[in-house]
Amino acid sequence: MSTTTATREQWSGPLGFILAAAGSAVGLGNIWKFPYIVGENGGGAFVIVYLLCIAVIGAPVMMCEFALGRHTQRNPVGAFKALSPKSSILAHLVGLGVLLSGIFLLLFRCWGWGALLIGLGLLIIRHGWVLVGVMGVVAGFTILAFYSVVAGWTLGYVWKAISGQLAFTEVAAAKTHFGHFIQNPAWALGCHFTFMLLCVLIVYRGITAGIERWSKILMPLLVLIILALIIRSLTLPNAMVGVRFYLTPDFSKINTDSVLIALGQAFFSLSLGMGAMMTYGSYLDRKANLFTSTLSVVGLDTLIALIAGLAIFPAVFAQGFNPDAGPGLVFQVLPTVFNQIPLGAFWAFLFFVLLLIAALTSGISLLEVATAYFVDERGWPRRRAVVVVGGAIFILGSLCAISVSDWARLEWIHTGLVQIFGTTKASFFDTIDNLSSNWFLPLGGLFISLFTGWIWGTKYALDEIRHGSSNFGDVHLISLIAGLKDDPSHNASVHVVTLASLWGIFIRFISPVAVLIAFLHTIGWLG
Ligand code: TRP
Repeated sequence: MSTTTATREQWSGPLGFILAAAGSAVGLGNIWKFPYIVGENGGGAFVIVYLLCIAVIGAPVMMCEFALGRHTQRNPVGAFKALSPKSSILAHLVGLGVLLSGIFLLLFRCWGWGALLIGLGLLIIRHGWVLVGVMGVVAGFTILAFYSVVAGWTLGYVWKAISGQLAFTEVAAAKTHFGHFIQNPAWALGCHFTFMLLCVLIVYRGITAGIERWSKILMPLLVLIILALIIRSLTLPNAMVGVRFYLTPDFSKINTDSVLIALGQAFFSLSLGMGAMMTYGSYLDRKANLFTSTLSVVGLDTLIALIAGLAIFPAVFAQGFNPDAGPGLVFQVLPTVFNQIPLGAFWAFLFFVLLLIAALTSGISLLEVATAYFVDERGWPRRRAVVVVGGAIFILGSLCAISVSDWARLEWIHTGLVQIFGTTKASFFDTIDNLSSNWFLPLGGLFISLFTGWIWGTKYALDEIRHGSSNFGDVHLISLIAGLKDDPSHNASVHVVTLASLWGIFIRFISPVAVLIAFLHTIGWLG
């Protein structure tokens, strides 16, 4: 169905697009996850590794996604369809490899995995690169399913802060409370439902009246709230101990694992690897500057992740709590911390509203990917697409919600999975999270860079980026860094190292190799 081009909606301007894309990027990953993984992995030293991953892999891949989306004006499936060659040797090789490993596994009597890989191999041989787009759309379902459950908890905690239920005097009590809360199906499902409903209501209105309008309201609010929290946190007695814990570099903690954690976090935090940025880019016109947009989105995302730690750690230390609480930090330690400072309920309320806003602007981007697929490729009206996709994600997410910590309520799925695949994760929630974050996103990122670098071609991608950013291809990087932007040599016609050539090298070699290593490591094939 390719008749929709003429009526396809577009962002009303660069600001709306940047705020929406930054809204997608800034999410639970920044405020809930980034601070504690920094705390656990060597503070400032980890931040340096993370910044490298962002600069060398994150930003170049984001530019690929924007370019692919804008060039094709399509959702991820449509984008790969439009640009895929009739037959691709690389795709056939990958398909053949997967098929052979499937046969190999059958020989070892791993029936489930064997059959799965054989089926997948055949699909790859038949459909080639389009499957990368399909994987992106599927990832939209699986990521939003568990994301919405956690987002629902933040919604529940906003309510608890208002109604004064967070007055814990010790972390143990907060922990028990949290445990009961997430295990209670009525609460977990109710909050998950409400969050999905909010996402559906926004995406239902479309690009400008829905996503863009709400991003323009929510993102400035998010920045104001986080600044207020930082000021409160940094002015508590002893706050500096927390800052020191958060940022003092400890290089002894940096090892392969922390580098891989940084890379995975960079992908998740920048919303890369499943076509969310591609979809947002597809609503752009040719005048938009993809290079400066990428810098703004990456910059905002990184800044907010970094300063989220400044809102959290000083408060935790000022009240003498232990920071290594990991994932439980925000739902267990923080409410207890807030309870000890004046107007605690108010600060707790602000904090959970902050989390909720961050999650909402990310949730809508996840929902938009699958919605755009049904609108572009299946010709559905947007409203029907949003409601059907939202409903399906609600159901998948409900399974996550009722089985966050074990398989108790989903024994039948568990038995099935064990029979087919041998091993499974601790819960349905973990299985879905693992599948999305450790499989779909890295593989998606790998294939997006390989596709841009070798199939579509850096040359054509660069042509796309040049629209709206005319000198991206010709800036002499060395003289730019040296501060010689106004020197005549800067505009000389022969340059070896330009921004564009560096980008091409990153996309063709560095990022696929790095992502591949990270992927093989997480699935346990390396070390
Ligand atoms: N980036 C968001 C966060 O940091 C989550 C998110 C939104 C996302 N859209 C995505 C992650 C697409 C991966 C892919 O919380």
